[in-house]
Amino acid sequence: MRQIIAIYPGSFDPVTNGHLDLIRRGCQLFDQLIVAIARNPEKESSFFTLDERMAMLQAMTAELENVMVDAFEGLLMNYCIEKRANAVLRGIRAVSDYEFELQMALMNRKIEPSVETVFMMPGEKYSYLSSRIVREIALLGGPLTGLVPEFVEKQLRRKVAERRAAADAIPTK
Ligand code: PNS
Repeated sequence: MRQIIAIYPGSFDPVTNGHLDLIRRGCQLFDQLIVAIARNPEKESSFFTLDERMAMLQAMTAELENVMVDAFEGLLMNYCIEKRANAVLRGIRAVSDYEFELQMALMNRKIEPSVETVFMMPGEKYSYLSSRIVREIALLGGPLTGLVPEFVEKQLRRKVAERRAAADAIPTK
């Protein structure tokens, strides 16, 4: 029988409850779901290192049997071919996501027509949630309850404290 292997690519900097909602929905639909963290050269200044992002995603998806976490570099379509994936999963939260997602899906289809992009909506309570907004709230010391799992919240607080300590250590003239 044909197995449907889907790749869920993203920066996951950090993983949010919205991402996890989509992963749980996706793993019910596909035989195998590979959550793939992009080493995106445009985002070299990521908040968390690749290893940290990987550890958070692995911990948060450990109980999902058909989900694995990986990282990739370069073109997503090359990675899909390498993994023999037939689908890419992307989340759409609001109409504002659609334009960029459509462009990416159609470009990916042009590069590799055998891979289909599947869009899913996370639960509506996550429709305003993004990794960027979570990082901003963490940097400003705001509440993160309900936005990320407790484990990720702890990692955010630790990272912010580390950054503060590093900034304080820089001597001022
Ligand atoms: O979480 P993000 O930042 O929205 O994820 C974007 C991502 C990583 C899925 C996208 O930038 C990507 O696929 N990068 C890999 C490089 C690539 O294949 N680019 C061409 C896409 S049309």
